[in-house]
Amino acid sequence: MADLLNVSGLHGGYGPVAVLHGVDLHICAGEMVALIGSNGAGKSTLMRALSGIATVKCGQVVLEGRRLDAMSAEQRVAQGLIHVPEGRRLFRSMTVEDNLLMGAFRLPGGARAQRAGLETVYDIFPKLRERARQDATTMSGGEQQMCAIGRGLMAQPKLLLIDELSLGLSPRLVEELAQALMRVNALGVSILLVEQDVGTALRLSSRAYVMDQGRMVHTGPSKALASDPRVRAAYLGAS
Ligand SMILES: Nc1ncnc2c1ncn2[C@@H]1O[C@H](COP(=O)(O)OP(=O)(O)O)[C@@H](O)[C@H]1O
Ligand SMILES: [Mg+2]
Repeated sequence: MADLLNVSGLHGGYGPVAVLHGVDLHICAGEMVALIGSNGAGKSTLMRALSGIATVKCGQVVLEGRRLDAMSAEQRVAQGLIHVPEGRRLFRSMTVEDNLLMGAFRLPGGARAQRAGLETVYDIFPKLRERARQDATTMSGGEQQMCAIGRGLMAQPKLLLIDELSLGLSPRLVEELAQALMRVNALGVSILLVEQDVGTALRLSSRAYVMDQGRMVHTGPSKALASDPRVRAAYLGAS
């Protein structure tokens, strides 16, 4: 499989605060890859650096052969790199459908393309179709997460960065979201997934990276990592 994303030697953080210390990572077209590691390891910061919110001091971010690291966050969205941030961050006092449409406002194709996008999202998350006219922030946490992922999908991503898929959700909802993510991935969208529940993260992904103190410390097929005691050690660091 061809590389979709190639990250090499990435250093960065927040202004003068260095968090990432030489991160390498690659994602092939169509892959779902997990990023795991204890609290404070730098997973969110890496996602922010990829999407253009955190500072990149040096290193390269290449998507389909194009350098993204000098681009603005908005330009990266146009290239197909979409970040679903931790905490969902839906727009208040707006319906589910209007929140979804916010993800598509840059797209060419007008109302017809937007309608097609909504249909795709509603097929993946039937609950959002039922709740289309409801104020998005009055929904349950799981439904808000569906809406946040749906909004990301509306931008027609090549790569979705999903930070903390299941934070605060019940096991039943986590399973529902896991099934939906597999449907998203089956559409050909590549996914980089940060997920506290290592079991879920490794079950959904084909490969995984383990991060610690701003560095990648292990990587390999998810099946192999699931029984790797070093991964368990990194996981236990979280609790
Ligand atoms: N906005 C910020 N400004 C400065 N430091 C931050 C900021 N956000 C996170 N950090 C620091 O960056 C490090 C990595 O945090 P983070 O990327 O959130 O880790 P993770 O997502 O793996 O839990 C932590 O030491 C954290 O305190
Ligand atoms: Mg985080």
